[in-house]
Amino acid sequence: MKIAVLPGDGIGTEIVAEAVKVLDALDLDLEMESALVGGAAYEAHGHPLPEATLKLAKEADAILFGAVGDWKYDSLDRPLRPEQAILGLRKNLGLFANFRPAICYEQLVEASSLKRELVAGLDILIIRELTGDIYFGTPRGRRVSPDGHFPGAEEAFDTMRYSRPEIERIAHVAFQAARKRDRRVTSVDKANVLETFQLWKDVVTEVGKQYPDVALDHMYVDNAAMQLVKAPKKFDVIVTGNMFGDILSDAAAMLTGSIGMLPSASLNARNQGLYEPSHGSAPDIAGKGIANPLATILSAAMMLRFSLNQPDAADLIESAVKDVLASGLRTSDIYSQGTTQVGTIEMGDAVVAALAGTTKKTSKG
Ligand code: IPM
Ligand code: MG
Repeated sequence: MKIAVLPGDGIGTEIVAEAVKVLDALDLDLEMESALVGGAAYEAHGHPLPEATLKLAKEADAILFGAVGDWKYDSLDRPLRPEQAILGLRKNLGLFANFRPAICYEQLVEASSLKRELVAGLDILIIRELTGDIYFGTPRGRRVSPDGHFPGAEEAFDTMRYSRPEIERIAHVAFQAARKRDRRVTSVDKANVLETFQLWKDVVTEVGKQYPDVALDHMYVDNAAMQLVKAPKKFDVIVTGNMFGDILSDAAAMLTGSIGMLPSASLNARNQGLYEPSHGSAPDIAGKGIANPLATILSAAMMLRFSLNQPDAADLIESAVKDVLASGLRTSDIYSQGTTQVGTIEMGDAVVAALAGTTKKTSKG
């Protein structure tokens, strides 16, 4: 099994190193090969997603990805910016189904910005469509405005669009995921205003008829944003488009106490997947050894489960993470009084140590 390891920029290199350490400790006979991506690749090769990196990614069974981006690249032409690397990987590999779980660990309830009773036990799964919508819709660009409020003025435009098959396949992913959980899907749209999302709502409703055992409801995106902070535990699976999913998943992440805890998976039709933490490259704390590696370590667990067919190893990692949290170790983003603050490497080491403990417990029966 081949894994492309793409650490990227900022804290990406630090957190991915810890996830690799955890994978190594499992002795699974994985072939891991690293390559540059994002700003790091731009510096070395003049492009955020060099041919060699894309080739490695395409050939791998799974991609372990850190993060890309740094403010210093904000003035580059758009095709050269680090973000284009992740967008290019999504597009080129057809990674249309993005899983973003938001789970509030009991030990971290106090780190949430919401009251305990709102988030304790929270376990929601956001399924975001990842290769369509206004992110990739054409035409897009800048021009002299031919009409509108200021004809003749400079304007920019993007295109929101979804085809029926694109909506159908992500709807199936959501209903199937719901069957492994609480069997409830909330489809988030803006059908009251947008044609794109009227089609979205119609198609999700149709697909839903094939899943009579799963309850489906529909919610406008503005209301969904409100409900996420008002009563987040009412959700089970949320399925939505690329743009709304980007926004809602950050909001949901924060409910859990720290975005530093949340893994994600982006899958294509062949179950090849890209696994990355839900957070970004955090250039402000890069190189300080304080970033939380747990989201990346948990992404490696998702990788073992979804793309590498190693569910037992995935379970081991997840329970090791829980053990480490129970033992009171915290990186600064999840620190609260009475816990012990540690850095990135110590946190990774602790997971490896907990893993050794769990493996021993398991082998003893
Ligand atoms: C995410 C990020 C990306 C996105 C950026 C880095 C292109 O915010 O994965 O949520 O907008 O999808
Ligand atoms: Mg985002």
